[in-house]
Amino acid sequence: MDRYAVFGNPIAHSKSPFIHARFAALTGQPLSYEALLAPREGFAGAVAAFRAAGGRGANVTVPFKLEAFALADRRSARAAAAGAANTLIFDAHGITADNTDGVGLVRDLQQLGCPLEGRRVLLLGAGGAARGALLPLLAEAPSALTIANRTPEKAAALATEFQPEGRACALFACGFEALSGSTFDLVINATSSSLSDDAPPLPAGVYAPGAWAYDMMYGREETRFMLAARELGAEHLADGLGMLVEQAAESFFIWRGVRPDTRTVRAELRAALQQAS
Ligand code: ATR
Repeated sequence: MDRYAVFGNPIAHSKSPFIHARFAALTGQPLSYEALLAPREGFAGAVAAFRAAGGRGANVTVPFKLEAFALADRRSARAAAAGAANTLIFDAHGITADNTDGVGLVRDLQQLGCPLEGRRVLLLGAGGAARGALLPLLAEAPSALTIANRTPEKAAALATEFQPEGRACALFACGFEALSGSTFDLVINATSSSLSDDAPPLPAGVYAPGAWAYDMMYGREETRFMLAARELGAEHLADGLGMLVEQAAESFFIWRGVRPDTRTVRAELRAALQQAS
């Protein structure tokens, strides 16, 4: 049976083993998928040991996504744009790095029925999560994409770096205060503020009529960002649980050449999350 794993630290609460086991069952693929705790200073060694034991591929999560990217012999364009890898493929060519986070976000938005083409998109944050989302978002041809960050210089640097990829899309960068007077059809929270039960301070009027608010984070309850978005008049709210399932499905497709039905697994995961105390 082909072996796969997710590496992280911590890793005990990862939902990836559940998701991939369900994908394998639904598609009839004979594979195993386990969560492996890599020592903070021992990621490369843990990957090497897994490959030597017959591992065919791996997902990588916090804090190893940059190291996974650096470790690879070859890198996909979307991994290169993200500067980080969440998916590794082990074969006769060595280690190939890919990044399915951004495409997972876009697929989830599509599944939810949130249009992107010709829309005004606001991306909050300028760290790894925002960087990984930029190329796949720009590929959907929004009319304008604004990156807003607590530290505005980081947003400006990202906008400059990705402008050539934007082509028809106007790319802007600013701090949160400078958003006063601007209106968007979709606001994506790619900051890690939810981890500290916080939310970026957005001004009134930021959500256009019918607008979407999407948090890349998720939890049992609505995140602070989602609660604030409702107060500010966002019509549609979503968290990142669907993104988690969609990025996993893209990794599964890369490894196995088969696209699993994500709707079933999304529903199961949501139900499990709501049952957990
Ligand atoms: P990740 O990989 O999750 O993106 P990161 O690279 O450390 O993590 O980036 C964290 C992002 O969340 C940054 O954009 C950070 O803003 P700064 O660049 O100003 O540090 C943002 N962030 C973290 N906590 C935040 C908070 N409480 N409010 C607003 N933005 C926050």
